[in-house]
Amino acid sequence: MGGEYMGIVLRMFVLVGIMVVVESVAFHDYGDALTKSILFYEGQRSGKLPPSQRMTWRKDSALRDGFQIGVDLVGGYYDAGDNVKFNFPMAFSTTMLAWSTLEFQKFMDQDLQHALEAIRWATDYFLKATSVPGFVFAQVGDPWADHNCWERPEDMDTPRTPFAVSENFTGSEVSAEIAAALVASSMVFKASDPVYSATLLKRASMVFDFADKYRGSYNESLGPWVCPFYCSYSGYMDELIWAAAWLYKATNSPYYWNYVLENIHYLENSVITNIDGTPYVGGSFAEFGWDTKHAGINILVSKLVMTNASSTPFLPNADKFVCTILPESPTIFVNYSPGGLLFKPGGSNMQHPTALSFLLLVYARYLNHSNRVVNCGNVAATPSRLIEVAKGQVDYILGSNPLNMSYMVGFGQKFPQRIHHRGSSLPSTTQHPERIDCQGGTPYFLSYNPNPNLLIGAVVGGPDIDDSYPDSRANFTQSEPTT
Ligand SMILES: *[C@@H]1O[C@H](CO)[C@@H](O)[C@H](O)[C@H]1NC(C)=O
Ligand SMILES: *[C@@H]1O[C@H](CO)[C@@H](O)[C@H](O)[C@H]1NC(C)=O
Ligand SMILES: *[C@@H]1O[C@H](CO)[C@@H](O)[C@H](O)[C@H]1NC(C)=O
Ligand SMILES: *[C@@H]1O[C@H](CO)[C@@H](O)[C@H](O)[C@H]1NC(C)=O
Ligand SMILES: *[C@@H]1O[C@H](CO)[C@@H](O)[C@H](O)[C@H]1NC(C)=O
Ligand SMILES: *[C@@H]1O[C@H](CO)[C@@H](O)[C@H](O)[C@H]1NC(C)=O
Repeated sequence: MGGEYMGIVLRMFVLVGIMVVVESVAFHDYGDALTKSILFYEGQRSGKLPPSQRMTWRKDSALRDGFQIGVDLVGGYYDAGDNVKFNFPMAFSTTMLAWSTLEFQKFMDQDLQHALEAIRWATDYFLKATSVPGFVFAQVGDPWADHNCWERPEDMDTPRTPFAVSENFTGSEVSAEIAAALVASSMVFKASDPVYSATLLKRASMVFDFADKYRGSYNESLGPWVCPFYCSYSGYMDELIWAAAWLYKATNSPYYWNYVLENIHYLENSVITNIDGTPYVGGSFAEFGWDTKHAGINILVSKLVMTNASSTPFLPNADKFVCTILPESPTIFVNYSPGGLLFKPGGSNMQHPTALSFLLLVYARYLNHSNRVVNCGNVAATPSRLIEVAKGQVDYILGSNPLNMSYMVGFGQKFPQRIHHRGSSLPSTTQHPERIDCQGGTPYFLSYNPNPNLLIGAVVGGPDIDDSYPDSRANFTQSEPTT
């Protein structure tokens, strides 16, 4: 009798619990979002597409990249809604795909295979981009001509100029980030393909030596071909230290650890100018992205020194970074929209909540492992609080926001329809086999119709700080997706 009574009470409790959950917390299928976010990379592929290509409205493109100078530079990814291969952000996206996979592969099920393919698509290309001794290719495609045309990658006829850095035309940020991408990826492939892994690691250490020996920013050598598209604002020391930290993680070689220790002070007092002109002093403020690696270095290295007597400056800096993000922190350095989205000025805002949330999640795991909390003044943040903040950002992106819309294409019921993306907005070559030339795409750009091709998994720049989203192709700071 007593047991039956308990059973009824329990069942009532469960029912009440479910009702509360349904009413107050939107459920998002994170597995579906993960699958789609990896699928997105297939839509950005350049080169000869494999039979396994799932995003079938995309076809082969840029099959002669590099041929004009006798180098095979076919492959890699377009960075966003255009058809240029910008190797600096491409390398950062690759490093992040690799880091994500290293951290979370045991939860990835059948998506792991696709993530490995997405990483290899980049690393195969980076092996080509670093195959000529004394040169590292930094970019393929004239960005000015490309941005002037609204053209499918399959039709592209703008100059596919290859740009390289070298001894006298330095570019340490792009070279060192490619080195970081190669070494992080070598760790990913270590078990499943040791030969490929060893090739990536060997190349990574060569490219790192090149980047370190011929120090300089590609701003200087490639000027208007890289600026204002992907100017290096924070210099190249962060990429050199980042690559060295990854090389230490992969090899345990004291050479790389000493490199990190001897150079980290460069970041401590450096003044970084953010894209909007705001100066930051010091290395651990609320920034992590294709240009600025400081926070990533501290979080990455924190795992290696979590229990060591000397963890300075890495652990204090990792904590300081968290304190610039958390909404309740007295030293917060980001904004949150009324609907709860982390917001920084400069456009393509979703790069910030995604990359910063990634660091919060990873740091939460490292902290939890050592039973540590972060103290921001008199506010203590537990690992589960860090996870809660990151989850809030992910939920916002997937639909828990004032517009009830997902900012990932193809996810949920309501999502962006007019993304600023040439291939997605023009009819596919299957629907429209005739060439659409440079200006021929303009009517499609100007049309109010939804894009004909779903770039599934693409996360757009996102809403403005007031949570509004115009869903307009012309409004590229909000409607352009990026890798
Ligand atoms: C770089 O410049 C130095 C000094 O002008 C010169 O000696 C060297 O040959 C140059 N290197 C290359 C690869 O052109
Ligand atoms: C690169 O150029 C941008 C824009 O001119 C400038 O703000 C930045 O300081 C430069 N970076 C370096 C490392 O010279
Ligand atoms: C941290 O301490 C451990 C254990 O004493 C040691 O094996 C490891 O090499 C140290 N790591 C660093 C980066 O100094
Ligand atoms: C935190 O650590 C505990 C005990 O090791 C573990 O059970 C739990 O899954 C960890 N949580 C996270 C988010 O890693
Ligand atoms: C979003 O969903 C909530 C809860 O269902 C509803 O109250 C609100 O009116 C919706 N807002 C919009 C803009 O559709
Ligand atoms: C983009 O949309 C915002 C908000 O609706 C608006 O303020 C801005 O002027 C738009 N920019 C362009 C280039 O259309």
